[in-house]
Amino acid sequence: MQTVGVALLGVGTVGSAVAKTLQDKGDELARRTGLRIDVRWGMARHPERVVAAGLPEHAATTSIDPILEDPDVVVVVEALGGEEPAATYLKRALLAGKHVVTANKEALSKHFAELVAVARERQRALLFEASVGAGIPLMASLRQLLSVNRVERIRGIVNGTTNFILTMMAEEGVAYHDALREAQRRGYAEPDPTADVEGFDAAYKLSILASLVAGRHIHPERIDRRGITSVTPDQILDARTRGGAVKLIAEAVYKNGDWELRVHPVFVSGNDLLAHVRLNLNAIELTCDRVGTVVLYGPGAGPAPTAAALIADVIDAVRFGPALLPRIDPAG
Ligand code: HSE
Repeated sequence: MQTVGVALLGVGTVGSAVAKTLQDKGDELARRTGLRIDVRWGMARHPERVVAAGLPEHAATTSIDPILEDPDVVVVVEALGGEEPAATYLKRALLAGKHVVTANKEALSKHFAELVAVARERQRALLFEASVGAGIPLMASLRQLLSVNRVERIRGIVNGTTNFILTMMAEEGVAYHDALREAQRRGYAEPDPTADVEGFDAAYKLSILASLVAGRHIHPERIDRRGITSVTPDQILDARTRGGAVKLIAEAVYKNGDWELRVHPVFVSGNDLLAHVRLNLNAIELTCDRVGTVVLYGPGAGPAPTAAALIADVIDAVRFGPALLPRIDPAG
């Protein structure tokens, strides 16, 4: 049995779910994969968080330095969120020779080409299944599709918080702020939910998907973005009486030699699959030149699915190393 030393950067909602999943399923995972994952460090501003996540006191650190210096740490799992210091830590971890697994769509979408280049140069894994669509095996499917297909259009619901709010408002008549509070309580929302409700989170995710499909870095700033704060309860209820729904749609279309990218709330008619994606579920349509349109659907936010995707990536990092790195040219 091979033991894999792991360090958790961030022991908040997602990081502690990773620790808990490994405590609950560590033996089962070891039987199934032949790998025993040993969480050697938990980095947090408050060390008591690390202990509260069930890790020993000596595993707690407030600095990344002991993690990078520990030769037994093979994989660094980043669940800090936000651009900085996360992006710097991701780069430092790769430069220190660690495989990196992240759920951080903001840091990744803003520094994608550079991080992939560093990983390639150091021959380390950089895996990010959890960054888009949480529990949906989206990156794995996209890798598979992209080896043969050209993807000409991406269209989907990629933010669980806003989809939860819109569903609760439409189906239960719940007020916006109450629905948002419930999404926060369930661990769907970002630490600052502005990122969700103003469409930033969806734009980061669309940037990652579009960059993978285009093979070059498409920065989130290029995306025309509008969130759900301007949508009124009347518009939401009216959409429902018309048999459809208001949804926050992220879309990238290849037209006339370039990508048109937008995140915006729109009316989706009842005969469109996306109108029926409820609560924290996400769905992503990929229109491919050979396979046709593929739809990936499942839980897109929440600690348990996100943690499951991160752990699956730890296993893939060890199994495949840099072999799964995407091709991302720096030019946006
Ligand atoms: N805040 C994000 C969402 C979490 O609601 O979709 C998952 O990336």
